Amino acid sequence: MAPDLTLENIDIIRPSNYAANGYPYAEWKLLREQAPIYYWDRSVQNPFYAVTRYDDVVWISKQPKLFQNGPRIAVILGSDPGANAPREGSPPEGVQLNTPLFRQLLNMDPPEHAKYRRVASSWFTPRAIQRLQPEIERITRELLDRLVETDGEADFVGAITAPLTLSVLAEMLGVPREDWELMFRWTNQIAGATDPEYQSPGKTAFETVRDARESLFKYFSALVEKSRAKPGDDIVSVIAHGKVDGEPLPAFELLSYCLVLVVAGNETTRNAASGGLLALIEHPGELEKLRRDPGLIDSAVEEIVRWTSPVIQFCRTPIEDVEIRGQKIRAGENLCLFYPAANRDPEVFEEPDCFRIDRDPNPQLGFGIGEHFCLGASLARLELRELFRQWIERIDQFELAGPLERLHSSFLGGVKQMPIRFRPRETRAPRSG
Ligand code: HEM
Repeated sequence: MAPDLTLENIDIIRPSNYAANGYPYAEWKLLREQAPIYYWDRSVQNPFYAVTRYDDVVWISKQPKLFQNGPRIAVILGSDPGANAPREGSPPEGVQLNTPLFRQLLNMDPPEHAKYRRVASSWFTPRAIQRLQPEIERITRELLDRLVETDGEADFVGAITAPLTLSVLAEMLGVPREDWELMFRWTNQIAGATDPEYQSPGKTAFETVRDARESLFKYFSALVEKSRAKPGDDIVSVIAHGKVDGEPLPAFELLSYCLVLVVAGNETTRNAASGGLLALIEHPGELEKLRRDPGLIDSAVEEIVRWTSPVIQFCRTPIEDVEIRGQKIRAGENLCLFYPAANRDPEVFEEPDCFRIDRDPNPQLGFGIGEHFCLGASLARLELRELFRQWIERIDQFELAGPLERLHSSFLGGVKQMPIRFRPRETRAPRSG
């Protein structure tokens, strides 16, 4: 029998635990109840405070001048030798890094952050994103066309969620189809570097990220040159022609911008989509509700993002000493905001452990909040809406056909493989005349 959970024996940060057991909801509940600002100094070189309550995540996120995003973006074991101990999964790195691997929105602070965000923000507004609807509708339809031609068994990630998010992003970045596979490899290596499957042979997680970054930077340098010569309406052209304080973006910041869009846009939506289907499989009553009332699709998408919370954590660092819930935090110490824990806080969500596609209100924090609120939220919502709308229309029955394979990561809740069995809806005979 498993021992009773106590603050002393829980683990919320080891990537292999996430791969083996999924999210540690019982551990987060214990933290929310007994130690909402909990000093964590186990299995990491640089300790952090785990923040698990909704109100605290909101309060901290909404004060970007006091709680800054740099220098530690997140707790990522093994990939950040300056900040985290590589005690698990990879041999200790001898490399000490003085400059960050990237300089992008997620490690910028006011006033610089807003200036950089403005470069791309008009491209991502809900209205602007709506113009991608026909394209996303078509990509999703074609993937489902291919799926229903198979024998009724597939890996949902390989057949649908990975190619869907990848194609949408590649179109948005102006990356030609023959290079999509490269994007896929690099994003897996950057976002999933703590997973042995994605680590380059003989390399540590940190080295894997660094090498993938090099390749991605090189690739996007060429794309930026092309866009400068002949601008398109893709986002790389927008950034390549963007200005900060009247000047073009320096090369390092420009390439980091491309990188964050590729990585942030790929892994997260893919995992929300896979986790969303799993939630519908595990909650047939909710699936039935959606079938009966397809108008619930937007609220279902919100609940899927709350339920799956694909980004597990980001850090904030106070620039002066602060006190939160009686806990003194010194300037420079790290607070780690656990979004899935906040999204199950019973002070905010009625029956937080129930998946309800018509939850209202649903102020979920899956996309974060405040200054760094997810730039791609409207795009992610559109992709998820289109996928589940078409799925419900075209697939009659579906179930898991084997165990899920999860990512070794305490940063992103990833699903690597999800075998499903399905039966397409009978298609109506084409109308004559
Ligand atoms: C379900 C899918 C997604 C989830 C759950 C998600 C989640 C998040 C979270 C939690 C943050 C940090 C918020 C904060 O610190 O307050 C974030 C930031 C960001 N996301 Fe997303 N994201 C998703 C999809 C996307 C997509 C599709 C893109 C772009 C194509 C994208 C681009 C970004 C960018 C650029 C930032 C940094 C914003 C900033 O620092 O100002 N995300 N996202």
